[in-house]
Amino acid sequence: MKKLFLLAIMMVFTFFSCQSGQNLKNMEKTKNPVPMDLKNFDTIQLIAPDTMGGKSLMQAFQHRKSDREFKQTPLSLKHLSEILWAAYGINRPDGKRTVPSAMALYPLQVYAVLSNGIYRYEPQPHRLVPVVKGDYRKLAGLQDFVYTAPLNLIFIADFNKYNLTQKEPDVNSMRMVSLDAGHCTQNVYLYCASEGLKCVVRAGAKSDELLSLLGLDSHYRFIVAQTVGY
Ligand SMILES: Cc1cc2nc3c(=O)[nH]c(=O)nc-3n(C[C@H](O)[C@H](O)[C@H](O)COP(=O)(O)O)c2cc1C
Repeated sequence: MKKLFLLAIMMVFTFFSCQSGQNLKNMEKTKNPVPMDLKNFDTIQLIAPDTMGGKSLMQAFQHRKSDREFKQTPLSLKHLSEILWAAYGINRPDGKRTVPSAMALYPLQVYAVLSNGIYRYEPQPHRLVPVVKGDYRKLAGLQDFVYTAPLNLIFIADFNKYNLTQKEPDVNSMRMVSLDAGHCTQNVYLYCASEGLKCVVRAGAKSDELLSLLGLDSHYRFIVAQTVGY
């Protein structure tokens, strides 16, 4: 009996030391992220999110804020992957996302402006596809920190999704895409708060130049941008 009791105590002790070891490893991953190597301009296969990581939702609310000073250090693959998943990733087998969307139309395209080029996010299969090679961070905003930050997200609405009869997007569709984008950017804010990253949502960008560089016609509109980094 005594032996059994001792064995149970040892098992409990081993379990908790493994758990705290795992937590320590997770903390290290967040505290010492390995910057991505961006020498090549290739498809970036993003990694699955660690849905057990991060702070509690209430702590994330507590820490959410806008920052306007960023290190130039590239993000780690883990952070880049989880930022995009939080912004517009798929979280269910039916293809629905981490954000709500009016009529589940998901009219947004998310572009990631990195130091070596512009990539488009494909939620399925969770990857970044190269679109334009080169440092185009100058087009991603109107404030100096944008030009050196490791990541600027660009949210562009595809109005083809609404089957509009008129040429210009109407007030209602503008309202829908803006609300959708607001959910995306708030998810990124909360993820950043949870991981100790910095970010700021921004209304300003050189939107016409960006759209023409990306080869997007008048059915596409720039909605909002968000700078993220350390
Ligand atoms: C729609 C929208 C557009 C914004 N545009 C900018 C911007 O272009 N540049 C900027 O530095 N901050 C921008 N912000 C961030 C606000 O300035 C910021 O949220 C506000 O000062 C409150 O600070 P907080 O986010 O730290 O609570 C924007 C925020 C929103 C919601």
